[in-house]
Amino acid sequence: MDINAILAQIDTEISNVNSPESLEHFRLKYLGRKGLLTQLTSTISGIAKEERPVFGQQVNSLKNKLLSLIEEKQKAISVSSKQQKLEPWDIGMPGIAQELGRLHPLTQVTDEICSIFKRMGFSVVEGPEIETEYNNFTGLNIPLEHPSREAFDTFYLKDYPKMLLRSHTSPVQIRVMQSRKPPLAVVVPGRVYRPDAVDASHSFMFHQVEGFMVDEGIKFSDLKGILEVFAKTIFGKNIKMRFRPHFFPFTEPSAEVDISCIICKGKGCSVCGRKGWLEILGSGMIHPNVFKHVNIDFKKYTGFAFGMGVERIAMLKYGINDIRLFYENDLRFLKQF
Ligand code: PHE
Repeated sequence: MDINAILAQIDTEISNVNSPESLEHFRLKYLGRKGLLTQLTSTISGIAKEERPVFGQQVNSLKNKLLSLIEEKQKAISVSSKQQKLEPWDIGMPGIAQELGRLHPLTQVTDEICSIFKRMGFSVVEGPEIETEYNNFTGLNIPLEHPSREAFDTFYLKDYPKMLLRSHTSPVQIRVMQSRKPPLAVVVPGRVYRPDAVDASHSFMFHQVEGFMVDEGIKFSDLKGILEVFAKTIFGKNIKMRFRPHFFPFTEPSAEVDISCIICKGKGCSVCGRKGWLEILGSGMIHPNVFKHVNIDFKKYTGFAFGMGVERIAMLKYGINDIRLFYENDLRFLKQF
């Protein structure tokens, strides 16, 4: 066995040792009971007498070299393992920033709408998304033959033909008026469902905020005043409003409310279809037939009601041109609010 070759070999081998396990493996290979050094020593009888002292010296220095290499490596390994243990507590390391979540833009706009009405004395009530046909239609004076009753415009529950996913928040008018006495001033945020094909302005599910007020002597001018405060608070005090005659079965008279286009300020642009006006909600004076259904004396009490789409308000407020952006959970969109 060539001792010089062994010396070269141990140098490269020790440089690859980096754990207590591999160091022990190294030690046993050379200094163990059946290790290389023992084998070398046992060959001494086969060596010429005069060569033995030199050979003995070489074996000795090999042994010393091995011992000192092992000792050095042991120190190095124990230092690096101490460093590893200390690492999680290195207070000099930069911290991991926790990103704060935020409310979905639709939740923010819903909250903003409700808080404007709360400041005017309205309370917030919620109702179920699965409704009875009665609350969604009949109680609201929507006749049997009305097209919106048909399955085409409403999701009916398969096994419960008189139950459906509410197509508007107006059924909560019925629920509240059945269980509370006037005076009433209530806003109702919530999800509604319609089997519309999804495109840039339609979704099978969207959000509405309903509002209504019932008391003695409530007039159309009260509706106008309240909605004017609302529209100017949410869109800015320079916008104009107009009430355009419309039809809803549950209000009489009924009106749709437009605001002057917030993009072109009424001059006419692509957002308002060159009309200068944007529709924001439906409204009217509660129909006497609705009061009859909930046993409120329609000779004594009057009231108004309105309903708006939250997506529409949010799209106008922020200049969003595709309703689908609200539902895709794309952080690039959501982080802007
Ligand atoms: N429920 C109506 C809709 O979804 C909106 C509305 C509510 C109109 C209350 C008048 C009064 O279109």
